[in-house]
Amino acid sequence: MSGFSSSSVAGRDIVALEGVTKRFPGIVANDSVDLSIRPGEVHVLLGENGAGKSTLIGMLSGLQQPDEGRILVDGKPTPITSPRHALTLGIGTVFQHMMLVPTLTVAENLLLGGPWWQRPRTEELAARVAEITGTLGITVKLQAKVSELSLGEQQQVEILRAMLRNSRLLILDESTSMLTPKGIDELGALMRRLVEQGLAIVFITHKLKEAAAFGDRISVLKLGRKVGEIPPERFRALGEQEIVSEIVELMFGKQKDDPEAVERR
Ligand SMILES: Nc1ncnc2c1ncn2[C@@H]1O[C@H](COP(=O)(O)OP(=O)(O)O)[C@@H](O)[C@H]1O
Ligand SMILES: [Mg+2]
Repeated sequence: MSGFSSSSVAGRDIVALEGVTKRFPGIVANDSVDLSIRPGEVHVLLGENGAGKSTLIGMLSGLQQPDEGRILVDGKPTPITSPRHALTLGIGTVFQHMMLVPTLTVAENLLLGGPWWQRPRTEELAARVAEITGTLGITVKLQAKVSELSLGEQQQVEILRAMLRNSRLLILDESTSMLTPKGIDELGALMRRLVEQGLAIVFITHKLKEAAAFGDRISVLKLGRKVGEIPPERFRALGEQEIVSEIVELMFGKQKDDPEAVERR
């Protein structure tokens, strides 16, 4: 899995990683990782704690720079130099921990970060929100305080914020970890509608079942290395149980492990 892959030459990737390595003192967090991110796909990044998932996302969202390798955006080598730069490239990230201000309303949160010299364009915001939520089939209470929303609703606000910033690639880091089972199902349905509209999604999880249920493509990370990938063609050919077994094999080697037991680790 090392070196420069040919997958990114196909021209369909909006973002690609080629041989990306990131080191921290005493550890190689990402070891020559290749990744192909395409519109219309939920690309699941799957791996146990410490596999290097968040580090990879840090580089895609401009928080950190690779030590080796490169990132291509629309086929062109593009260093992503800051979080703001990532946003201008159309890369929006919903981080593991909510980033909204709980004491402000949803509308106020969505207007944060706008140009300081302009009066907040509340009506324009309402119109754009209505358009986006309409096509996505969600409702967002603009005047509610964020602290009054469920975690699932807060996450929808964060996704909405990314859409308002014209994201073409939406990254969700461990987004289901704090959600109820109902919230998880709703997020799965929302991701499906987003990719149907041509968005690319990178969905990070350590849960096998979520990966199998929500993904179109899965990359499996283990101790910083990419140990395998299940591409969409293969995904479509397999049932959910077969996908889970294949992932278990990639993550833990050939063994007759009970996926339920693995899930609980
Ligand atoms: N800023 C950092 N400084 C030092 N080590 C780090 C830093 N960020 C992550 N690591 C280490 O890199 C490895 C991968 O971490 P991370 O990317 O957070 O994994 P994951 O998100 O898959 O749980 C871990 O061993 C972690 O301790
Ligand atoms: Mg993480």
